[in-house]
Amino acid sequence: MNNNHFLVIANWKMKLSFKETLKLTKFLKQKTKKFKNELIICPSFPFLNEVFKIIKGSKIKLGAQNTFWEMKGSYTGEVSPKVLKEIGCRYVILGHSERRRYFHESDHDINKKVKAALKVGLIPILCVGETEQERRFGQRDFVVRRQLEVTLQGVTNFSSLIIAYEPVWAIGTGKVAHPKDACYAHSFILNFVKKRFGKKAKNVKIIYGGSINEKNIQGFLGHALIQGTLIGGASQKEKSFYNILKVINQEI
Ligand code: 13P
Repeated sequence: MNNNHFLVIANWKMKLSFKETLKLTKFLKQKTKKFKNELIICPSFPFLNEVFKIIKGSKIKLGAQNTFWEMKGSYTGEVSPKVLKEIGCRYVILGHSERRRYFHESDHDINKKVKAALKVGLIPILCVGETEQERRFGQRDFVVRRQLEVTLQGVTNFSSLIIAYEPVWAIGTGKVAHPKDACYAHSFILNFVKKRFGKKAKNVKIIYGGSINEKNIQGFLGHALIQGTLIGGASQKEKSFYNILKVINQEI
């Protein structure tokens, strides 16, 4: 089984202190010298620069958890994609359900962010997924299609794009999606991007996020439709994250 290109993205959310972030980063740098897959860590904004200095020259890449859609201006409290690029970020998580829920980010806002990120050469990690209620009412495909349609409106010029299928009901709940269901959602997303982008669809990676841990990660490996994972809780502790990385590496 070749999972050589299995993408692992750690979303540390607002869970770690400065000290904890540096400690975990150093631990990962040390432990992933032989890691054959792609690993991206997404710490809080204030720690990005310091984390970049640690991982520079290693296999680990840096991502931010959000960005604004303007490059510069009087936008108190916002962070420019240009600045993120300048301090070493290669990736940025956009449209996470926590941003949609607590900060009322709309698909239109996310669309502006996707375009701004691409403009400066950041690779968007675009999150989509249905809520528990939408799932219960059988609206998953409808919701995911609407999110993709709006967030990707006018997006044409990209060399790389990551779409994370993160069903809201699976985030931080311990209720992981069945890999078969994830594959179904991913094939739905893949069909959308094929129609939308044609040949360029090969530059899109589709990954799964939501309650991934060291016990269930195995089930998500070896599926052509699942090209990686976006991990929250289990990526925030040395032991659980390292165990996940070990399972992924053994699959190669
Ligand atoms: P958990 O892995 O904690 O469910 O979080 C998933 C997530 O939100 C990643 O962006």
